[in-house]
Amino acid sequence: MAEPLVVPSGYRRDDGTVHPPLDYAGYRSTALRAPSEPLILLPHNLTELTGPLLGEGRVSSSSADLSVQPGGEALGQRIIVHGRVLDENARPVPHTLIEVWQANAAGRYLHRVDRHDAPIDPNFTGVGRVLTDDQGNYRLVTIKPGAYPWGNHPNAWRPAHIHFSLFGRAFTQRLVTQMYFPDDPLFAYDPIFNSVRDERARRRMVSHFDMDATVDSWALAFRFDIVLRGRDATPMEQP
Ligand SMILES: [Fe+2]
Repeated sequence: MAEPLVVPSGYRRDDGTVHPPLDYAGYRSTALRAPSEPLILLPHNLTELTGPLLGEGRVSSSSADLSVQPGGEALGQRIIVHGRVLDENARPVPHTLIEVWQANAAGRYLHRVDRHDAPIDPNFTGVGRVLTDDQGNYRLVTIKPGAYPWGNHPNAWRPAHIHFSLFGRAFTQRLVTQMYFPDDPLFAYDPIFNSVRDERARRRMVSHFDMDATVDSWALAFRFDIVLRGRDATPMEQP
Protein backbone atom coordinates (compact mmCIF):
# COMPACT_ATOMS: atom_id res chain seq x y z
CA MET A 1 0.00 0.00 0.00
CA ALA A 2 1.18 3.51 -0.72
CA GLU A 3 1.75 5.70 2.29
CA PRO A 4 -0.93 8.37 2.64
CA LEU A 5 -0.22 11.67 1.01
CA VAL A 6 0.75 14.40 3.46
CA VAL A 7 -1.68 17.20 2.70
CA PRO A 8 -0.63 20.67 3.81
CA SER A 9 -3.27 22.36 5.95
CA GLY A 10 -3.13 25.98 4.89
CA TYR A 11 -0.11 27.98 3.84
CA ARG A 12 2.79 28.03 6.22
CA ARG A 13 5.82 30.00 5.12
CA ASP A 14 9.01 28.06 4.53
CA ASP A 15 10.98 28.37 7.77
CA GLY A 16 14.33 28.11 6.00
CA THR A 17 14.77 24.36 6.49
CA VAL A 18 13.03 23.09 3.37
CA HIS A 19 15.46 23.84 0.57
CA PRO A 20 19.17 23.04 0.37
CA PRO A 21 21.64 25.91 0.79
CA LEU A 22 23.39 27.33 -2.26
CA ASP A 23 26.75 26.38 -0.79
CA TYR A 24 27.02 23.01 0.95
CA ALA A 25 30.48 21.83 2.03
CA GLY A 26 29.91 18.14 1.29
CA TYR A 27 28.67 18.87 -2.25
CA ARG A 28 31.93 20.07 -3.73
CA SER A 29 30.83 21.89 -6.87
CA THR A 30 28.43 24.18 -4.98
CA ALA A 31 31.50 26.18 -3.93
CA LEU A 32 32.05 27.06 -7.61
CA ARG A 33 28.55 28.33 -8.31
CA ALA A 34 27.20 29.73 -5.06
CA PRO A 35 27.22 33.55 -5.14
CA SER A 36 29.85 35.17 -2.95
CA GLU A 37 28.33 38.66 -3.23
CA PRO A 38 24.86 39.86 -2.26
CA LEU A 39 22.27 39.25 -4.97
CA ILE A 40 21.17 42.14 -7.21
CA LEU A 41 17.50 42.46 -8.13
CA LEU A 42 17.05 42.94 -11.87
CA PRO A 43 14.01 44.51 -13.56
CA HIS A 44 11.71 42.09 -15.33
CA ASN A 45 12.24 41.93 -19.08
CA LEU A 46 10.81 39.72 -21.80
CA THR A 47 12.66 36.69 -20.49
CA GLU A 48 11.14 37.05 -17.06
CA LEU A 49 7.61 37.75 -18.30
CA THR A 50 7.21 35.13 -21.01
CA GLY A 51 6.93 31.39 -20.79
CA PRO A 52 6.51 28.24 -22.81
CA LEU A 53 3.47 28.04 -25.11
CA LEU A 54 2.07 24.60 -24.46
CA GLY A 55 -0.87 24.32 -26.81
CA GLU A 56 -2.45 21.10 -28.01
CA GLY A 57 0.04 18.75 -29.59
CA ARG A 58 3.17 20.31 -28.17
CA VAL A 59 3.49 17.57 -25.59
CA SER A 60 2.47 14.22 -27.05
CA SER A 61 1.41 11.23 -24.99
CA SER A 62 4.44 9.30 -26.24
CA SER A 63 6.75 11.80 -24.54
CA ALA A 64 5.43 10.54 -21.19
CA ASP A 65 6.67 7.03 -21.97
CA LEU A 66 10.45 6.80 -21.74
CA SER A 67 10.43 3.00 -21.89
CA VAL A 68 9.89 2.74 -25.64
CA GLN A 69 11.74 4.26 -28.55
CA PRO A 70 11.09 3.70 -32.27
CA GLY A 71 13.85 1.07 -32.27
CA GLY A 72 12.46 -0.97 -29.41
CA GLU A 73 12.03 -1.21 -25.66
CA ALA A 74 14.53 0.04 -23.11
CA LEU A 75 16.27 -2.46 -20.84
CA GLY A 76 15.58 -2.55 -17.13
CA GLN A 77 12.75 -2.58 -14.63
CA ARG A 78 9.70 -0.90 -16.17
CA ILE A 79 8.02 1.46 -13.69
CA ILE A 80 5.15 3.91 -13.54
CA VAL A 81 5.86 7.22 -11.80
CA HIS A 82 2.78 9.25 -11.00
CA GLY A 83 1.45 11.81 -8.57
CA ARG A 84 0.02 15.29 -8.24
CA VAL A 85 1.42 18.79 -8.37
CA LEU A 86 -0.02 20.89 -5.55
CA ASP A 87 0.30 24.48 -4.44
CA GLU A 88 0.96 25.63 -0.88
CA ASN A 89 -2.70 25.09 0.05
CA ALA A 90 -2.91 21.56 -1.39
CA ARG A 91 -4.79 22.80 -4.45
CA PRO A 92 -3.95 20.96 -7.68
CA VAL A 93 -1.82 22.78 -10.25
CA PRO A 94 -3.33 21.89 -13.63
CA HIS A 95 -1.71 21.99 -17.08
CA THR A 96 1.80 22.52 -15.80
CA LEU A 97 4.76 21.16 -17.72
CA ILE A 98 6.86 18.50 -16.03
CA GLU A 99 10.11 17.50 -17.68
CA VAL A 100 12.24 14.61 -16.43
CA TRP A 101 15.70 13.28 -17.17
CA GLN A 102 17.50 10.30 -15.74
CA ALA A 103 20.23 7.70 -16.14
CA ASN A 104 19.42 4.36 -17.73
CA ALA A 105 19.08 1.08 -15.83
CA ALA A 106 22.87 0.71 -15.76
CA GLY A 107 23.39 4.18 -14.28
CA ARG A 108 24.58 5.89 -17.49
CA TYR A 109 23.28 9.14 -18.98
CA LEU A 110 23.06 9.57 -22.72
CA HIS A 111 25.35 12.59 -22.50
CA ARG A 112 28.80 13.27 -23.92
CA VAL A 113 30.34 14.15 -20.55
CA ASP A 114 29.13 10.98 -18.85
CA ARG A 115 32.21 8.73 -18.76
CA HIS A 116 30.80 6.10 -16.41
CA ASP A 117 31.95 2.63 -17.46
CA ALA A 118 28.42 1.30 -17.97
CA PRO A 119 26.54 0.51 -21.17
CA ILE A 120 24.44 2.98 -23.13
CA ASP A 121 20.99 1.67 -23.99
CA PRO A 122 20.20 2.47 -27.65
CA ASN A 123 16.49 2.43 -26.79
CA PHE A 124 16.62 4.83 -23.88
CA THR A 125 17.14 8.60 -24.10
CA GLY A 126 16.28 9.24 -20.44
CA VAL A 127 14.22 12.32 -21.32
CA GLY A 128 10.46 12.76 -20.99
CA ARG A 129 7.75 15.35 -20.53
CA VAL A 130 4.14 15.42 -19.45
CA LEU A 131 1.47 17.99 -18.60
CA THR A 132 -0.59 17.70 -15.44
CA ASP A 133 -4.33 17.20 -16.05
CA ASP A 134 -7.24 19.26 -14.66
CA GLN A 135 -6.64 17.82 -11.19
CA GLY A 136 -2.89 18.27 -11.20
CA ASN A 137 -2.21 14.57 -11.90
CA TYR A 138 0.67 13.33 -14.00
CA ARG A 139 1.80 9.85 -15.05
CA LEU A 140 5.04 8.70 -16.64
CA VAL A 141 6.26 5.29 -17.72
CA THR A 142 9.99 4.75 -17.53
CA ILE A 143 12.80 2.42 -16.44
CA LYS A 144 14.12 2.40 -12.91
CA PRO A 145 17.45 4.27 -13.11
CA GLY A 146 20.65 2.76 -11.77
CA ALA A 147 22.97 4.35 -9.22
CA TYR A 148 26.08 5.99 -10.68
CA PRO A 149 29.47 7.25 -9.50
CA TRP A 150 30.01 11.01 -9.67
CA GLY A 151 33.51 11.86 -8.43
CA ASN A 152 32.48 14.24 -5.65
CA HIS A 153 34.68 12.29 -3.24
CA PRO A 154 36.30 8.81 -3.25
CA ASN A 155 33.77 6.08 -4.05
CA ALA A 156 30.89 8.58 -4.34
CA TRP A 157 27.66 7.11 -5.73
CA ARG A 158 24.38 8.87 -6.34
CA PRO A 159 21.27 7.05 -5.10
CA ALA A 160 18.92 6.16 -7.96
CA HIS A 161 16.96 9.29 -8.86
CA ILE A 162 14.93 11.05 -11.52
CA HIS A 163 15.43 14.78 -12.13
CA PHE A 164 12.20 16.80 -12.30
CA SER A 165 11.70 20.29 -13.75
CA LEU A 166 8.38 22.10 -13.38
CA PHE A 167 7.47 25.19 -15.36
CA GLY A 168 5.19 27.93 -14.11
CA ARG A 169 3.85 30.72 -16.33
CA ALA A 170 7.26 32.14 -17.17
CA PHE A 171 10.69 30.74 -17.93
CA THR A 172 12.00 32.15 -14.66
CA GLN A 173 9.38 30.22 -12.70
CA ARG A 174 11.07 26.93 -13.25
CA LEU A 175 11.54 24.65 -10.24
CA VAL A 176 13.95 21.72 -10.24
CA THR A 177 14.14 18.78 -7.86
CA GLN A 178 15.07 15.10 -7.70
CA MET A 179 12.87 12.13 -6.95
CA TYR A 180 14.38 9.19 -5.08
CA PHE A 181 13.24 5.62 -4.45
CA PRO A 182 12.27 4.18 -1.06
CA ASP A 183 14.89 2.64 1.23
CA ASP A 184 17.90 3.35 -0.95
CA PRO A 185 21.04 2.21 0.93
CA LEU A 186 22.99 5.15 -0.55
CA PHE A 187 20.93 7.89 1.16
CA ALA A 188 23.29 8.13 4.12
CA TYR A 189 26.31 8.70 1.86
CA ASP A 190 24.92 11.22 -0.62
CA PRO A 191 25.80 14.89 -0.02
CA ILE A 192 23.12 16.11 -2.46
CA PHE A 193 20.35 14.25 -0.65
CA ASN A 194 21.73 15.35 2.73
CA SER A 195 22.18 18.98 1.73
CA VAL A 196 18.48 19.19 2.64
CA ARG A 197 19.06 19.37 6.35
CA ASP A 198 15.56 18.67 7.64
CA GLU A 199 14.76 14.96 7.73
CA ARG A 200 11.06 15.42 7.02
CA ALA A 201 11.91 17.61 4.03
CA ARG A 202 14.32 14.94 2.78
CA ARG A 203 11.55 12.35 2.98
CA ARG A 204 9.43 14.51 0.68
CA MET A 205 11.94 13.84 -2.10
CA VAL A 206 11.44 10.07 -1.73
CA SER A 207 8.67 8.44 -3.76
CA HIS A 208 6.38 5.79 -2.27
CA PHE A 209 5.94 2.33 -3.68
CA ASP A 210 2.31 2.23 -4.84
CA MET A 211 0.94 -1.28 -5.16
CA ASP A 212 -2.47 0.03 -6.24
CA ALA A 213 -0.96 1.71 -9.30
CA THR A 214 1.12 -1.26 -10.43
CA VAL A 215 0.00 -3.08 -13.58
CA ASP A 216 -0.14 -6.86 -13.31
CA SER A 217 2.61 -8.57 -15.28
CA TRP A 218 3.81 -5.25 -16.68
CA ALA A 219 5.13 -2.55 -14.32
CA LEU A 220 5.76 -1.54 -10.71
CA ALA A 221 4.61 1.91 -9.60
CA PHE A 222 5.87 4.77 -7.46
CA ARG A 223 3.95 7.81 -6.29
CA PHE A 224 5.63 11.20 -6.09
CA ASP A 225 3.56 14.22 -5.13
CA ILE A 226 5.16 17.63 -5.54
CA VAL A 227 4.28 20.63 -3.37
CA LEU A 228 5.53 23.87 -4.90
CA ARG A 229 5.73 26.23 -1.94
CA GLY A 230 5.51 26.66 1.81
CA ARG A 231 6.83 24.66 4.75
CA ASP A 232 5.53 21.41 3.26
CA ALA A 233 7.15 22.10 -0.11
CA THR A 234 9.19 19.52 -1.94
CA PRO A 235 12.83 20.64 -1.58
CA MET A 236 13.96 22.42 -4.74
CA GLU A 237 17.42 23.09 -6.09
CA GLN A 238 18.16 26.80 -5.85
CA PRO A 239 18.71 28.54 -9.18
FE1 LIG B 1 21.44 12.67 -11.94
